[in-house]
Amino acid sequence: MTQTEVRKKITDLREQLNLHSYRYYVLDDPDITDAEYDRLFRELQQLEAQYPGLVTPDSPTQRVGGAPLKGFETVEHRQPMLSLDNALNEQEMRDFDARLHRLLEMDDPFEYTIEVKMDGVAVELVYINGLLSIGSTRGDGVTGEDITANLKTIHSIPLRLRDAELPVPARLDVRGEVYYPTAAFKKLNEEREKAGEPTFVNPRNSAAGSLRQLDPKLTAKRPLDIYVYGLGYSENSTLISQSQALAAFKKWGLRVNPLTKICLGIEEVIAAHAEFLELRPTLPYEIDGAVIKLNSFALQDQAGIRSRSPRWAIAYKFPAQQETTQIEKIVVQVGRTGAITPVAVLQPIKVGGVEVRRATLHNQDEIDRKDIRIGDWVIIQRAGDVIPEVVKVITSKRTGKEQKYTLPDTCPVCDAPVVRIEDEAVARCENVACPAQVKEVIRHFASKGAMDIEGLGEKLVDQLVEKELIASYADLYFLKLEQIADLERMAEKSAQNLLEGIDKSRDIALNRLIYALGIRHVGEHVARVLANHFGTLDKLSTASEEELQDIHEVGPQVAQSVNKFFAEPRNQQVLERLFAGGVKVQQKLVDEQTEQKFAGMTFVFTGALEKFTRDEAEKMVMDRGGRAASSVSKKTNYVVAGPGAGSKLAKAEQLGVDVLTEDEFLEMVG
Ligand code: IVH
Repeated sequence: MTQTEVRKKITDLREQLNLHSYRYYVLDDPDITDAEYDRLFRELQQLEAQYPGLVTPDSPTQRVGGAPLKGFETVEHRQPMLSLDNALNEQEMRDFDARLHRLLEMDDPFEYTIEVKMDGVAVELVYINGLLSIGSTRGDGVTGEDITANLKTIHSIPLRLRDAELPVPARLDVRGEVYYPTAAFKKLNEEREKAGEPTFVNPRNSAAGSLRQLDPKLTAKRPLDIYVYGLGYSENSTLISQSQALAAFKKWGLRVNPLTKICLGIEEVIAAHAEFLELRPTLPYEIDGAVIKLNSFALQDQAGIRSRSPRWAIAYKFPAQQETTQIEKIVVQVGRTGAITPVAVLQPIKVGGVEVRRATLHNQDEIDRKDIRIGDWVIIQRAGDVIPEVVKVITSKRTGKEQKYTLPDTCPVCDAPVVRIEDEAVARCENVACPAQVKEVIRHFASKGAMDIEGLGEKLVDQLVEKELIASYADLYFLKLEQIADLERMAEKSAQNLLEGIDKSRDIALNRLIYALGIRHVGEHVARVLANHFGTLDKLSTASEEELQDIHEVGPQVAQSVNKFFAEPRNQQVLERLFAGGVKVQQKLVDEQTEQKFAGMTFVFTGALEKFTRDEAEKMVMDRGGRAASSVSKKTNYVVAGPGAGSKLAKAEQLGVDVLTEDEFLEMVG
């Protein structure tokens, strides 16, 4: 190649790489695989190694370079980086709106933007003639620290702005939030745990820690990401509103969070905030609220700022998901399979708007690893629908009176020995007649996806077992009205209702019955697969492990567990008694009425679903023999993406998985 050809090749490779990065990070729409990207990248690296004179600072190869720093220089922000005032409820939002109406002497509803409030680290990026020249932390708002080298390692930060669609200003200062994706955060902590290093309390701290590394090579190892949300300064700007600025950022190649809306009037803002709150558990990063801004820059200027925060914007916070409280005692719970789970009884505290009194401690290993003691002050977390758990102990609050805890050797309910199999974290009570297990087994049997026995609540199961009216679920079918009506808080009418509920469950679909038996590793989906394959309980119960394993979707674990269940004489007796009690498997499987057109297919739902809830969607898939998974892999057949879909959608496109809109999915369902 001649010099000119080399130059051209290098420019060409950089352009391609930049375009692919833009498609991947900003548009969330990659059109090449990671492997292809890597190939182009290496080609560029090799050429640049051969011709070092042609290396430029904005080359995609120049993200991690240079020696570790001794310390960070300080940089002054051209415009101060302000903070935000908080609103904690609807009333405070209406007050904010009313204040602006008074201040600006305007009656018509304002146009606001609402954005998610990322829980990360605020940074500023300064682009001179399109080239990233300084990246800094917020610092005290006036001066921050120069962390350019570290920010350059974040692949979603463009080293040069794109000007293909919109001219780039001679100088552009933007603000955004660097964050640590939650899944990667969990992994990071697990690794640090193993290495005996201190763990991070939350993703925000790990993002901050990663950005403060003096050696950019260390920062480069952390999967940090950024969303840009604000304009600090722009030379000769023609931008007139926040929404216009965000659209321009995107065109320039900056990553903008898709969860952004324009709202007319404060009530629309309040509704959008509620939507964000609902999405919160499905997002791959943490948010702690929404940020509401007057859309018009002219009105923003008119409203002005207080000493440190603007009058035209506010953070509408979500209820916190983490709180501090004290462990009063530790008790154990005995589960359906005899698993003994230690549970912390807490000084009651509201977390995310819900009162929490207990947090799971998982098992002895977890207690030891986190060094949790009775009397400890702890940070507890309640995220989405998961059971509250202890994040960490606040050791500085220890007085010395805290007591270490070890699981009991015998079951607290039936006194049978507690067994812990080597290599398994769970300890178990192996007494199948343990009342605690019996209760859980019956509760599961009667639950919605199983026999769905109306009127048989938790307390009632407790009473029935404690009064020795039933010792297994089969006994339910022999209960007499007088026996039930005699129970505490039981009127004749509700006793009658319960009997009717039990009677209704006598006629049952095979898949539900199989699921109801509570065989380990047999969830609703596997139960359906087994019902479809065998057609009768008889055939299932006599199937060998090999026969079971031959079924698609049945692995060795399930096969062994099913086999073991039916081999157990006690289980055989209970089943006999069940049928003696009048339980009959329906001739036709309920599910066969729905065509099994999704058999063997896996679906992933992502984004804000508008046409149906996630539960409904998953049921539609399962009813048709398919499976709903939570993460995208090569095995995924379809990703159904609603508005705001992010990383899962990107992954699907990267792997070439078919992506459907909600409507397309409904069409497939028929
Ligand atoms: S705007 C003048 N928008 O929240 C407006 N901030 O206390 C100042 N944050 O330091 C910030 N997401 O770290 C804005 N969409 C968003 C945001 C956001 C997260 C953070 C940022 C800021 C803090 C406000």
